[in-house]
Amino acid sequence: MTLAATLTLDPAFVVGPVRRRTFGSFVEHLGRCVYTGIHDPDHPTADGDGFREDVVDLTRELGVSTVRYPGGNFVSGYRWEDGVGPREQRPRRLDLAWHSTEPNWVGVDEFVRWCRKTGVEPMMAVNLGTRGVQEALDLLEYCNGTADTALVDLRRSHGSEQPHDIRIWCLGNEMDGPWQLGHKTAAEYGRLVAETARAMRMMDPNLELVACGSSSSDMPTFGEWERVVLTEAYEHVDYVSAHAYYCEQDGDLGSFLASAVDMDRFIQAVTATADAVRAVGRHRKRIHLSFDEWNVWYMHRATSKPPSGDDWPVAPVLLEDRYNVADAVVVGNLLIALLRHTDRVHAASLAQLVNVIAPIMTEPGGRSWRQTTFHPFALTSRYAVGDVLRTAVQTPTYETSRYGEVALLDAAATHDAATGDVTVLAVNRSQDDELGLTVDLQRFDDLEVVEALTLAHADHSWSATADDATSVLPRPNESARMSAAGVRIELPPVSWSVLRLCRVTPA
Ligand code: AHR
Repeated sequence: MTLAATLTLDPAFVVGPVRRRTFGSFVEHLGRCVYTGIHDPDHPTADGDGFREDVVDLTRELGVSTVRYPGGNFVSGYRWEDGVGPREQRPRRLDLAWHSTEPNWVGVDEFVRWCRKTGVEPMMAVNLGTRGVQEALDLLEYCNGTADTALVDLRRSHGSEQPHDIRIWCLGNEMDGPWQLGHKTAAEYGRLVAETARAMRMMDPNLELVACGSSSSDMPTFGEWERVVLTEAYEHVDYVSAHAYYCEQDGDLGSFLASAVDMDRFIQAVTATADAVRAVGRHRKRIHLSFDEWNVWYMHRATSKPPSGDDWPVAPVLLEDRYNVADAVVVGNLLIALLRHTDRVHAASLAQLVNVIAPIMTEPGGRSWRQTTFHPFALTSRYAVGDVLRTAVQTPTYETSRYGEVALLDAAATHDAATGDVTVLAVNRSQDDELGLTVDLQRFDDLEVVEALTLAHADHSWSATADDATSVLPRPNESARMSAAGVRIELPPVSWSVLRLCRVTPA
């Protein structure tokens, strides 16, 4: 059966600009993300620092803007000093977060060099688990300092003559989580984050600082955590973070496909809380969201279980989820949700980049390939340009056990006022029915379809492997047709699509 849905767009109804930082990702010292992921000195494409050029190329193709580093749970026990200076003198340490051994072959200087080479912006996290204000200040001075001080001289002596000039900093990681080293109450963390931010701004008032929000909306402290932390630290920080991971549970594909409903509610709840603190505190500025961990993650599978006992391996296989077509549809839909909230979500990071719940996979010393989730991310990053438009949607709905009645169609649209180009991103959440989508474009000058791509497959459990990463790719959707009212396109069940429209060029 073909169901019908309508999307009405108007260039005057703008939510806000598409922010490049929406397309951030995350590299943590976890499993094989760093070692044999981005860094693999024995790989045939390795550069002088040991970084894999094939992964650099894929990261560029993915369209990543910022990369958060070095954690994640890892950062809450990390001593950044261990990762600088001559490699042979760097200590091996226990990584308690992931029950691994950290060899410190890569540290802040190498990471920033990798960022420059890849064309991404570093987003640095400081350890507020086992450490505090002084260590955060030392790392900031080491990275960004320009005066002739011991820490700046140290950086220079390590070959980084120019300051790293890192603008955006995360003040700890998931400090609300009892699993976190140095886990704190909201009141304890609120004080620490305010004092750390205040001190860091004494060194550089123009930093952009992120306070930890909740590590998921399921946390018992969700909401109250944000209220208490922001009450303490409102004037000192710019962002509050949000983290969310989704997966198909107990075969409930319908709820899983509606994961963006939860992300919408999460964003609305955090912005409402931040705005309530703003009102009570008579603050002028607004706090924005850094959704700096989001993805599909099957965290209850064996692959997410860290080693135990006397086993403390270097770079074990951990969190290496293989993503199928339905997972990619959800990832595409989560990006739609992030774009929809571009007025309040000013940064986001797909967690993570390589091997660990990642769009890019590698073999140690060998091949690299794109997972299914790579494609909606890369295409959205490439074609979502200009302003995000408000969307008026008419759509059939369906019932889910997790979120109640939800829309079958979810969509976002962008408009580039400079070129007139319009991009529509659309998901059909139906498992059985095709959705005939009409995009009403009557408020726009003449547009024509330049490209329509759809990611779907009769077997949506298909996953890419090193041997076959290309059988299922976004394919041209030949159904897209212009009419007087706009454009009509058929969206297959469990699909993600991008529709690109350009101004008709006069003959
Ligand atoms: O991304 C994997 C882990 O998920 C991160 O280390 C942590 O911050 C979150 O719980």
